[in-house]
Amino acid sequence: MVRHHNHTIINIILSLTTISFLSHTIHAQDKPLILSCGGSPAKDADGRNWDPDEKFLSAGAKSIAAKSDVQDPSLPSEIPYMTARIFQSEGKYQFPIKDVKSRTMLRLHFYPPSYPNFNISKSYFAVVAGGVTLLNNFSASISAEALSQAYFIKEFFLAPLDSPTLDVTFTPAAGAFAFVNGIEVLPIPAIFDSDPALAGTVGAGADGADQR
Ligand SMILES: *[C@@H]1O[C@H](CO)[C@@H](O)[C@H](O)[C@H]1NC(C)=O
Ligand SMILES: *[C@@H]1O[C@H](CO)[C@@H](O)[C@H](O)[C@H]1NC(C)=O
Repeated sequence: MVRHHNHTIINIILSLTTISFLSHTIHAQDKPLILSCGGSPAKDADGRNWDPDEKFLSAGAKSIAAKSDVQDPSLPSEIPYMTARIFQSEGKYQFPIKDVKSRTMLRLHFYPPSYPNFNISKSYFAVVAGGVTLLNNFSASISAEALSQAYFIKEFFLAPLDSPTLDVTFTPAAGAFAFVNGIEVLPIPAIFDSDPALAGTVGAGADGADQR
């Protein structure tokens, strides 16, 4: 919803300035991926559409789609939190990146209360994105306890990849499992970097996520 709003503002600026090369940049930009892991296509409580994660899993990744058996009253929405993708061995997502020069914001949603047949206190894992280790020996359960929150979001800004694919790998520690409830892959258009005047105009409050 925020992105949509942002695009509207960009389009208004473009129609005022009629700079065609910028228009080209924007059309080449990726659409955000908003994925409910282990889920099916659904809208969240805010009316945002979430897609299943399955088609982005690399071939050979062994995983389980699970549904939580506890719904915490603090959850803002069942989507994406009540379903999860669980990995008992290394699992990799491959996300297409159209504009290899754009930065990417990766948002990981975690809701660690309880999944049938899995003991959440045995979940420790690493997350590597585009070759960069984002989380290591990570326990979503311990993090949630530390935050006194049932669910939380981890947000990462990734430098331009110069690659048409963003690989995100979940690797459980020995004897442990990894899981994730939701993944968002949001391109940050290169115009925010290359044209400070425009970035100032567009960035002002239009997208709280892009704080640089
Ligand atoms: C889950 O694992 C922890 C740590 O190994 C253990 O103390 C606890 O009893 C286990 N819970 C269940 C329900 O098996
Ligand atoms: C992972 O973190 C847990 C809890 O903080 C700790 O007990 C364990 O030793 C750590 N494992 C590794 C391999 O660092």
